[in-house]
Amino acid sequence: MTKIAVVPGSFDPITYGHVDIIERSSRIFEEVYVVVLDNSSKNPLFSTDERKELVLKSTSHLANVKVDTFNGLLVEYAKRINASTIVRGLRAVTDFEYEMQITLMNRFLDETIETIFLMSQRKYSFLSSSIVKEAAKYNGKVSELVPECVDIALNEKFRK
Ligand code: PNS
Repeated sequence: MTKIAVVPGSFDPITYGHVDIIERSSRIFEEVYVVVLDNSSKNPLFSTDERKELVLKSTSHLANVKVDTFNGLLVEYAKRINASTIVRGLRAVTDFEYEMQITLMNRFLDETIETIFLMSQRKYSFLSSSIVKEAAKYNGKVSELVPECVDIALNEKFRK
């Protein structure tokens, strides 16, 4: 049976921290679906299509990675593509409570789908889409933290 994983997120926008988790997932699983979802507690800067496009460009070097969007429950999406595993990145203890809540809710909704965590690399442990947006908004240099296409997109968004 093909081992399929789903890497979900709001990816608003994708950072090198996300790319690292996707690259490592692609070495563990035969197929990886990166799915751009809506997080109801966040108000995204980029539209779903823009976020998907940036994820596509940032992962085009990975042959077994597909990019998708979905409007609904993550476990429903996972079932739809026959994924047995959800992969999330874990940066620091501050992520733990939030991740535990999502994981336990997902398990409550569908106990056949397992969630695993990949520890972020130390150099990305402070990195988040929110902090990148904050820095970019005030003209901070974020080119070492995000793929080039994201750097360009942030500049366009904030300085149009
Ligand atoms: O990158 P994020 O914002 O931390 O990702 C959170 C995300 C999008 C994975 C989560 O909000 C999600 O799964 N949203 C879809 C709806 C859902 O299934 N929620 C979890 C169970 S209620």
